[in-house]
Amino acid sequence: MKGELHLEENKNIVWHKSAINKTDRQKLHGHKSVMLWFTGLSGSGKSTIANALQHELHMKGISVYLLDGDNLRHGINKNLSFTPVDRKENIRRTAETGKLFVDAGIVVLAALISPFEEDRNNARAIFEPGEFLEVYINCPIEECENRDPKGLYKKARSGEIMQFTGIDQSYEEPYNPEIIINSSQISIEKAVNILMDYLFNKVKLKQLYKEDFE
Ligand code: ADX
Repeated sequence: MKGELHLEENKNIVWHKSAINKTDRQKLHGHKSVMLWFTGLSGSGKSTIANALQHELHMKGISVYLLDGDNLRHGINKNLSFTPVDRKENIRRTAETGKLFVDAGIVVLAALISPFEEDRNNARAIFEPGEFLEVYINCPIEECENRDPKGLYKKARSGEIMQFTGIDQSYEEPYNPEIIINSSQISIEKAVNILMDYLFNKVKLKQLYKEDFE
């Protein structure tokens, strides 16, 4: 039988140890586990939409966890700056963390600017095919700067902050994301609906593997 470990024969004790794998955990949760990677400019709405989606999924009984770039930079990524090299490490650690969550059977939402295509592709590469879904939160920089929820664009313009994405460091648009959300054109609710529809009808989150039903 799958996962059974045969220890040395002992007349009185028989030890059956099953190795628990990702599929076993997904079955326990009652759904597949995937990584939804949100990328976009600061102020584009990544965290807001990911948070709203997290709430909606949770209410639907899906085990979900949000890895938010700003929050991770208070803990596991607190020693990283905004140089391209440190951003690369920021994305790598977050992707590896997300992979553990996916292995644990949990739907993961990661919301990071992740401005470089190569870093995002490296993140994608550590997941199994179909497990990593790139969500581009597309919002014109003028709109992001206009919103400036944290006052950071203003600081970047005045030179108080260096290497700010979209100002004096580049943002590379995703080449082939699974989903594009034009956040300046649609409401948060509409964005969440699009993502829920994708997860339930395209990814078929609740439909576990065929052999589970045999
Ligand atoms: S990433 O590029 O490495 O993916 P991450 O998403 O973790 O970035 O962090 C971005 C957040 O850090 C922004 O939302 C903003 O609040 C803050 N921040 C501070 N300095 C910068 C900067 N130079 N460029 C971009 N964001 C910055």
